[in-house]
Amino acid sequence: AFDISNLRDQTGYVTLDRGYKNTGATKSAITFLDGELGILQYRGYSIEDLAAKASFLEVAYLLIYGELPTQEEFTTFETAIRRHTLVNEDMRKIFDGFPVKAHPMGVLASLVSAMSAFYPDLESGKEEDKTDLHIIRLLAKLPTIATWSYKRALGHPTNYPKNTLDYIPNFLNMMFSLPVEDYKVDPVVAEALNVLLILHADHEQNCSTSTVRLVGSSQANIYSSISAGISALWGPLHGGANQEVIEMLENIKADGGDVSKYVEMAKNAKTTGFRLFGFGHRVYKNFDPRAKIIKKAADDVLAKLGVNDPVLEIAKGLEEAALNDEYFVSRKLYPNVDFYSGIIYRALGIPTNMFTVMFAIGRLPGWIAQWKEMRETKEPIGRPRQIYTGSTLREFVPLEKR
Ligand code: ACO
Repeated sequence: AFDISNLRDQTGYVTLDRGYKNTGATKSAITFLDGELGILQYRGYSIEDLAAKASFLEVAYLLIYGELPTQEEFTTFETAIRRHTLVNEDMRKIFDGFPVKAHPMGVLASLVSAMSAFYPDLESGKEEDKTDLHIIRLLAKLPTIATWSYKRALGHPTNYPKNTLDYIPNFLNMMFSLPVEDYKVDPVVAEALNVLLILHADHEQNCSTSTVRLVGSSQANIYSSISAGISALWGPLHGGANQEVIEMLENIKADGGDVSKYVEMAKNAKTTGFRLFGFGHRVYKNFDPRAKIIKKAADDVLAKLGVNDPVLEIAKGLEEAALNDEYFVSRKLYPNVDFYSGIIYRALGIPTNMFTVMFAIGRLPGWIAQWKEMRETKEPIGRPRQIYTGSTLREFVPLEKR
C-alpha cells in the first residue's frame, strides 16, 4: 500500500543549488551583468562611461530612481543629502561604548541598525511613505559615521560634516582634518574616490545585496535590511577581500617578494587553505571590468600623487604569474575589483581596516535601489527550501537515562 510517510524525508521536488550558483532569486531592472563578456551596466549605462563622466551621487540617483537626474532633480537630491549629514548626538553615546579597537565594519553595521531606533516615523513594514527621507538619511549619514571609527582609533576628535563641501570632499574633510589644520581636498584624490565608489555602487544579486533583499522581504525596515547587508559585506570572501588583499601583498613583500611561492600555495588551496585574495569571481569568468578600470586608476593616482608603492609592483607580478599559470587559467580566476582598490585606498591615506567601509559607502546606493525595487514589485518573503540530511524519527530518552 502507498505510505505517504515514506515521502516525507524526500521533501517533494526541491531544487538544490548550494550557493545559488545558477538560481535566479528575482527579476531586476537595475544592473546588467554579463560574466562571460565582462559587461557591467547600471540602468543601461556602461560602467566605463559612468566611471569616466558621472559623479557618485548622480549614479546613486540613477540606481535608486531609474534615470539620470535632470539638473533640477540633482540639486534637490544633493541639497537634501547635505542637510542630513549630521548624526543624532545620542548615536555618539552608542559609538562611545564600543572598544577603541573595534573593527569599523562591526561599528558601522551596529550604528546603521541603531538608526532604525532613532526615527520614530519608522516602523517595520510601514515606512513606505517616508522612503525617500530614509534614503537621504542613509546616504547622508553613512560617511559621517564611517569617519568616527577612523578618528577614534587615532585618538583624534571626530569632525562634524562641513556642508558647504560636496559629498566626497566632505567625507575626506571629516577623515583628515585636524583641529590645528584644515585638510585641503586634493582633486586627484576626490576624483579617484569618485571612480572607486561608482565602480562599487551596485553588482546585482551579490551576497550582501541578496542579504538586503532577503531581510527586507520580511518587511523589515530599510535600516535593519542595510545593516544586514553591511554585515554580509564584511566577510573575506566578499567585500572583506579588499583588506585581505593588501595584507596578503604586504606579507609577500615582507617575505622577500617571491610571488611564485604564493601562487604555488594558492594552487594547493585545498590543502594549504590559502587562496589568492582578489582573485576569482562567482560570475566574471573572463575578466572583471571594474578591475580593468581600477588597475589603470591605480597607476594614474600613484603617478599623480608621486607615490611609489612597492606593493603595486608585487600586485602586478602576482597578477602576471597567476595569469600564466594553468591552475588559474583553467579555473578562469582573474583579478577582481578588490585586487587593486586597496592600493588606491592606501595611496589616498585610508587605513587598511577602513577598506571594506569604503566599499560599503560605495555599495549603499545599490542596496537601497534593490531594497526599493523589491518593495515596489511586492516581492514575496524569501524562504529557501532544503534537503534534510539529519536523523529519522527517534524516541526521546529522559535526561536521567542518558
Ligand atoms: N585562489 C585559489 N584558488 C581559487 C581561488 C583563489 N582566490 N578562487 C577560487 N579558487 C579555486 C577553488 O579552489 C576551486 O577549485 P577546484 O575547481 O579545484 O575545486 C575553483 O577555483 C572554483 O572556486 P569556487 O570557490 O568554487 O568558486 P566560487 O564561485 O564559489 O567563489 C570566490 C568565488 C568566493 C570569489 C572565490 O573565487 C574566492 O574565494 N576568491 C578569493 C576571495 C575574493 O577575492 N573575494 C572577493 C570577490 S569580489 C567581491 O566580493 C566584490
